[in-house]
Amino acid sequence: MSGPNTQYDPVEVSALDPAAVDANVADALAAIEAATDLDALKAVRLAHAGDRSPLALANREIGALPPSAKAEAGRRVGEARGRVGAALRARQEALEAERDERMLVDERLDMTVVAPRRPLGARHPISTTIERVEDIFTGLGWEVAEGPEVEAEWFNFDALNFGPDHPARAMQDTFFVEPGDAGLVLRTHTSPVQMRAMLTRDLPLFIVCPGKVFRTDDLDATHTPVFHQVEGLAVAEGLTMAHLKGTLDRFAAELFGPHVTTRLRPAFFPFTEPSAEMDFQCPICLGKDPACRVCGGTGWIEWGGCGMVNRNVLSAAGVDPERFTGFAFGMGIERAIMLRHGVPDMFDIVEGDVRFSTQFGMEI
Ligand code: DAH
Repeated sequence: MSGPNTQYDPVEVSALDPAAVDANVADALAAIEAATDLDALKAVRLAHAGDRSPLALANREIGALPPSAKAEAGRRVGEARGRVGAALRARQEALEAERDERMLVDERLDMTVVAPRRPLGARHPISTTIERVEDIFTGLGWEVAEGPEVEAEWFNFDALNFGPDHPARAMQDTFFVEPGDAGLVLRTHTSPVQMRAMLTRDLPLFIVCPGKVFRTDDLDATHTPVFHQVEGLAVAEGLTMAHLKGTLDRFAAELFGPHVTTRLRPAFFPFTEPSAEMDFQCPICLGKDPACRVCGGTGWIEWGGCGMVNRNVLSAAGVDPERFTGFAFGMGIERAIMLRHGVPDMFDIVEGDVRFSTQFGMEI
């Protein structure tokens, strides 16, 4: 409330002049109309309805009027302020509604939009098959062993009874690591792990070692310079070829199904005596289709080599061949995948195309 007006002639207070009040109202209404957002309207409210607005100032002048004029002026200013206040409220409501409308549009979420799809990867069947093989053998109480891919020539050949000029050394087309006299090769098979295991573990021992091996083969439908084997080695008292056959039969049955038929064929490896190749009956034609593409009509598919550990190998590892015997085997992983899943072409396995791997699902 303002105090008595001492500055103006109470009879001629220009701020209370009806024309001036109307002009203030008109200004206020125009400014309200022109406010296009809530911030602008806030400034308009301050200017035209705030404590220091012309109409508020005019209202203060009323107290100084003679009583006879007070009612008239009070009514006029009150009505004017009421009109401005109503216009402000209406505009406020309109602008808030507009803002809410805009927010609904701007912040709209279309729940039916198709999210961008990121194709999922897939585990390669080599990895899943290796894990399956590990599971099979750990289930039998065996352990999983490892060895280096860049291997000492001694472990890869000499320790396995390949003589310096043994033709078998040339049989395995070897990648030698430079410099040539370093005595290092990319392992041509997983068999060097046999010697490493015997040198580092206590007897009896039962180990499998899946891993990469390397040979200077060209890539074709059935060969690749990098492939995978799983090596097995058992050394204990009283092991015989029957244990070897039983183990491999179990292995084949777990991997290919209970009805798979296997056979051992005499063969030669410097580190086993006697040695054998293991074949299994073609799961596609069961030996009944002379034109079968998978087994070439022979009815049998070669899976890998095996045998009783050569006593020279046991001796080289410091194992007494009079007391202990051992059996060993080395099976191809790619070969197992080709057979287990009917993959006819090595290219599919090595190419790394996720469309190949996804077909095998998320086998763990
Ligand atoms: N290392 C042999 C190869 O790569 C396969 C092999 C044969 C492994 C006989 C063995 C074995 O453990 O006893 O051709």
